[in-house]
Amino acid sequence: MAQSTPASSIAQAWIITGPTAGIGRRTALGLAKHGTVVLVGRNRAKLDGVEKEIRERGGRAVSVVADLSDVTSARRAAAQIAALGLPIAGLVNNAGIMPSKSFKSAQGWDGTYATNHLGPFALTEALVPYLPDGANVVFVVSAVEDPERKPAVASGFRGARYISAAASARGEWAPGGSSKPGFDAYATSKQGNLATVYAFAREFPRLRFNAVEPGFNPGSDLGRDANAALRLIAKYLLSPIAPMIKYWSTPKVAARLITNVLTDQSRRTGVYYDEKGQPMAGSAQIRNTAFQDRVVAETRALLAAVPIDEAPRSNRKVRS
Ligand SMILES: NC(=O)c1ccc[n+]([C@@H]2O[C@H](COP(=O)([O-])OP(=O)(O)OC[C@H]3O[C@@H](n4cnc5c(N)ncnc54)[C@H](OP(=O)(O)O)[C@@H]3O)[C@@H](O)[C@H]2O)c1
Repeated sequence: MAQSTPASSIAQAWIITGPTAGIGRRTALGLAKHGTVVLVGRNRAKLDGVEKEIRERGGRAVSVVADLSDVTSARRAAAQIAALGLPIAGLVNNAGIMPSKSFKSAQGWDGTYATNHLGPFALTEALVPYLPDGANVVFVVSAVEDPERKPAVASGFRGARYISAAASARGEWAPGGSSKPGFDAYATSKQGNLATVYAFAREFPRLRFNAVEPGFNPGSDLGRDANAALRLIAKYLLSPIAPMIKYWSTPKVAARLITNVLTDQSRRTGVYYDEKGQPMAGSAQIRNTAFQDRVVAETRALLAAVPIDEAPRSNRKVRS
């Protein structure tokens, strides 16, 4: 995909979630060359660090603190971003987790499903009215949602195990899933991202919704709860050889791809890109438009049960 950076792009703003580690941090640094970056993360000190890096490189950044596992916090972040009044050109839903131990979100929901799907969905839906025509929303997804994806199956994934949004929120997955803890929650949550991209691309034709599979990135912190030895092997032995292995990547390469897809000036929408930037197909289930619409409708019904917080807290900080 050709990257283009029109002179006017510097006046634009790009929102990114999860900019404090791995792929997101690299993407935030790259996006700073295209305008103001709105950093959405849960850790103020880490956000400060990324802001500082961007400023030192001559860029501009604004931080919004939000815990995306908490739907109320995600909605509050959207209100704070809208209040900034920036010319938003795009949003990257990048934040994600793959913990091996399950936990509950603020709403009492499965923590992985809430962080990876429900929170980003709530943030995106709340931002839609504030996005100008042509704005591009990119979700960083994962091919492990596909039960036919051979490298994912070899690592223990059995594809997304969707029963309903409410069942996922309860941490219940369709039978026949993975024996590895956390894998079904992760795969199902990332399928939720893809369903959102495909359904929103049809529902909101004035905007663009696209998905990127960034490749397996042993150099990111996604496997942060693995033991220290495994993490060191992943970062210092596997990550350097990643560019030579099919389906593998590095945060630097993945960030370049995400930035290219996000800033692409074409009208393309509803496209799922692989780690090389080529269009790819998801699982048979996610290609079914009725299924995409069901996931979105069930997600909306679940989120409608969370009362709208009418008094956003002022927990943002603006710096350039
Ligand atoms: N790594 C891979 O092989 C791979 C493959 C396919 C897809 N992906 C996807 O790529 C995306 C980025 O992952 P990564 O590999 O770069 O992981 P990472 O290095 O662990 O970074 C994850 C980012 O998400 C943030 N985050 C986690 N929970 C959050 C929450 N509750 N609220 C707000 N932010 C939160 C983290 O913030 P903190 O710094 O505060 O923890 C961090 O900035 C994810 O969506 C992941 O599913 C990754």
